[in-house]
Amino acid sequence: MPRIAYVNGAYTPLSDAAVHIEDRGYQFADGIYEVALFVGGRWWDLDGHLARWARSLRELQITAPMSERSLRIVMDKLVAKNRLGDCYIYMQATRGVAPRNHAFPVEGTRPSLVMTVKPLTLAKLHGVAAKGIAVITQPDIRWGRVDIKTVGLLPNALAKEAAKKAGASEAWFVKGGRVTEGSSTNAWIVDKSGALVTHPLGNEILGGVTRQTAIACARELQIKVEERAFTIEEALAAREALITSATNLVTAVVSIDGKAIGDGKPGPIAARLRQAYIDHCAAAG
Ligand code: PDD
Repeated sequence: MPRIAYVNGAYTPLSDAAVHIEDRGYQFADGIYEVALFVGGRWWDLDGHLARWARSLRELQITAPMSERSLRIVMDKLVAKNRLGDCYIYMQATRGVAPRNHAFPVEGTRPSLVMTVKPLTLAKLHGVAAKGIAVITQPDIRWGRVDIKTVGLLPNALAKEAAKKAGASEAWFVKGGRVTEGSSTNAWIVDKSGALVTHPLGNEILGGVTRQTAIACARELQIKVEERAFTIEEALAAREALITSATNLVTAVVSIDGKAIGDGKPGPIAARLRQAYIDHCAAAG
């Protein structure tokens, strides 16, 4: 069965799905996106993803292509049309199609909305988490508003490629000696006192939806959480390290720049937090 995409009001075979070459997403990265999981018949952390979607649009002054209620309907329909079980959804909105000009197009230009889904094998993710992942560090050369989930991801793509070339799965951005976040994940350590530490919210990181839920899960587990920046030296000396994102859930980091973290195996806090996160999402309505 061909995969089906949603493009500006139409459900189209993925192979035919296209947007205009003067879409501002294509020319200026003038758009935003979200990635969410549909597992066991329900959306995971969807309220958080849709709240961030609305915030990203507001921050860029892009008109919402449709209401949240309609978005949810299209998302459900797209999953049903693809007859998928567990899957990822990618949804993107841009300022729309207009003759190339840096300033915004005329009032009333319709924003573009596209969505695609792809199958997800939870067992595969569990396999990765059981081994833990390797991370490298890269200079954080991104712009000053990475709290907005824009499609302008070139530094992230370059960092991920550098990680891949080094045989690692993720790159952690470092700014002024401190770890901000990963190229597509939030970065965490378990420090020497046993506290879970992750960079505070602000313009320097994307406020991860998984990060927020994981903080709540950690507090329920009575694990101390500190939202503060940490240095790369502190990370190398940490008991554990981990990443969070919609696509990785909570996954242990076992090495940074080739140096083992802790005993070089996924640690107990990462494992407990991962399970708590999964249980939370599987149970939430
Ligand atoms: N990435 N930081 C960055 C730079 C990200 O791109 C992401 C998500 C996160 C984690 O956010 P969340 O927990 O809401 O998924 C942090 C998605 C998965 C992506 O680009 O594919």
